[in-house]
Amino acid sequence: MWFEKALVATLTRLDAEHRRRRIRPVAIPGPRLVLADGRSLIDVSSNDYLGLSQHPALKARAIDWVKRFGAGARAARLVTGTLEAVSELEAKLAAFKGTEATLIFNAGYQANAAVLPALFELAGGRDALVFTDKLNHASLHAGCATAGVKEIRFRHNDLAHLEELLTQHAAGKPAFIVTETVFSMDGDRADVAALDAIAHRHNAVLYLDEAHATGVLGPGGAGLGVNAPGAVIMGTLGKAMGSAGAYIAGSQPLIDFLVNRCAGFIYSTAPAPAACGAVDAALDLMPTLDAERALLAERGLRLRQRLGELGIDTLASSTQIVPAILGSEERALAAQKKLEERGVLAVAIRPPTVPEGASRLRFSLSSAHSDIDFDLLLDAVGAIAA
Ligand SMILES: Cc1ncc(COP(=O)(O)O)c(C=O)c1O
Repeated sequence: MWFEKALVATLTRLDAEHRRRRIRPVAIPGPRLVLADGRSLIDVSSNDYLGLSQHPALKARAIDWVKRFGAGARAARLVTGTLEAVSELEAKLAAFKGTEATLIFNAGYQANAAVLPALFELAGGRDALVFTDKLNHASLHAGCATAGVKEIRFRHNDLAHLEELLTQHAAGKPAFIVTETVFSMDGDRADVAALDAIAHRHNAVLYLDEAHATGVLGPGGAGLGVNAPGAVIMGTLGKAMGSAGAYIAGSQPLIDFLVNRCAGFIYSTAPAPAACGAVDAALDLMPTLDAERALLAERGLRLRQRLGELGIDTLASSTQIVPAILGSEERALAAQKKLEERGVLAVAIRPPTVPEGASRLRFSLSSAHSDIDFDLLLDAVGAIAA
């Protein structure tokens, strides 16, 4: 049958290219470790930057919400109505983000893939002028592809190039600039204040993905979008916030528009109460976690220094995400293996997630790691330089 043959041919090709991905069963004994193949490994691959996924307050609130509201949300929000508790949660999230309103989604991928096409509808749909950073996340590309727009890509974080392209293609016509505030694979930041100024100069709407900034950067973990008051902010709740889901934050008219026009909101079952409950608890904790955020910043710096001493490129990382650029897929996979032998789980990231020739280990640090864990990591990375 052609279908089976095509499936197997694709997998065989991926194997030959060292690009095949496999789902690996693990157990999670706590915020710092994973148990894989019977071994306990220090986890520097998850996005649980503050260890909140295992925090007792989040677990307790998730259970409480399940007891009060049930295991599932039963339907899309426009069908059965929205729990009062979820509306209150959205108001609390808006206060955290410093915006007028928020809207919660089931996942970041869903939010980007669904919200962007809805917004582009306001400026010509498939003809909308959309300027995107070359290293944007797959879900941002998915939003553009769903809308049928042809992305006009600027070089990564090169705002002079962005302005050149805006002048050339938009010349003051309505446009969108879509970027991340912390880049998921490089760990560097966008200059949000400069982007905001450019957006104003060129009549463009700024759309910021705060997946890796939410909870970690900005005042009280509110993200970097606070430096762009008029922007459309998207962020996730399954990373530093320790739960699952995503949000859009912005003005009330923006949220009301999405409730009416965003198909991925209208036709999708509301997020489960357990996930919302955990977010509610994470928001309560946010103002208390400045020491954890400072620890993450300090550890990021120390890991970059160590990798630098070993002659390993960490690009322009300035956050808790630290790439160790190794080049080929084979080298990245071999480095992952060497670290595992030393008790550390740092996953090799290969194309198409990152550009050709830029395979890497992506270290994502957590404040939940002990000092001993972190010292062990600093010691273990010596093996990948060899
Ligand atoms: C920048 C960015 N945006 C969006 C997402 C998708 O979020 P979620 O995992 O909630 O689907 C991710 C996930 O890794 C991400 O890194």
